[in-house]
Amino acid sequence: MIGRYVTRAVDAQGRWSKPLGEFYHRWLSALFRPIRPVKDFLNGTWLGHPVHVVITDVPIGALTVSIIADLIGQPLVADVSLVIGILAMVASAVTGFADYTDVDGTARTRATVHSVVMTTALVLYVVSLVIRNGNPPDRLVPIALSLVAYLVLSVGAAIGGDLVYLIGTHVNRHAWRGAGVKWVPLDLGGLPDIPQGGPTKLKAGINELAVIRDGDRILAVHAQCAHAGGPLVEGSVVDGVIECPWHGSRFALADGHVRRGPAMYDQPAYEVRRAESGDGWETRRRPA
Ligand code: FES
Repeated sequence: MIGRYVTRAVDAQGRWSKPLGEFYHRWLSALFRPIRPVKDFLNGTWLGHPVHVVITDVPIGALTVSIIADLIGQPLVADVSLVIGILAMVASAVTGFADYTDVDGTARTRATVHSVVMTTALVLYVVSLVIRNGNPPDRLVPIALSLVAYLVLSVGAAIGGDLVYLIGTHVNRHAWRGAGVKWVPLDLGGLPDIPQGGPTKLKAGINELAVIRDGDRILAVHAQCAHAGGPLVEGSVVDGVIECPWHGSRFALADGHVRRGPAMYDQPAYEVRRAESGDGWETRRRPA
């Protein structure tokens, strides 16, 4: 299977990609920290979807058109498509770097290789464009450069796709969790009652919830953050919003809606009521 060899080749770059990834991470975090709303925008919190994967379709499409136009002798179409492709690659890089600040471990190392491969493709494309701009009598060299760049771009795109499909980077942590319309008992785990304040981690069937109590008003969200699985029971609660301790995503306790990124997905929220039997509490997931 070709994918296995690509993964091995990417992971074999750890000697340089790990320290480079740490360096990238430091300066990108310092860059984005003071402009969090901008970073949220680039992540896709407003869209409910990562912006990076939407934008990356544009350069791949434009640069495919450019190659075809080169091969069938349409230089104007090829050059205009190339310019569009380069601009879209820059936009993709900016959104990708915003996502990059919230990944670590294997995902960061592979994302570093992805970004280096993509940067190499971008440089090759820019050189091709510069040569084209000089109106050379023979377009063989810039076309050859674009072809090589397209191959590099394809490898980079495959590595980027594997970040999602192989190791689940930026996949909604609740993608496979059923909506569930049935009320299930809330397991107090030996506690006499749901404690005031919170968040308190309590189980409901196979799910762990972060439960917050204010008098008789009880609110609950799933204990695992939708962004990357952070422990919301260790988060802080302010003004009806719970903040994840890992990357600072915020979710409304009333409905689980994301209020601040980097999360792009809503958090499962749960209703809690007195059990119909009169003994204890029961819960069910709220509709999205
Ligand atoms: S795990 Fe990233 S914000 Fe919660």
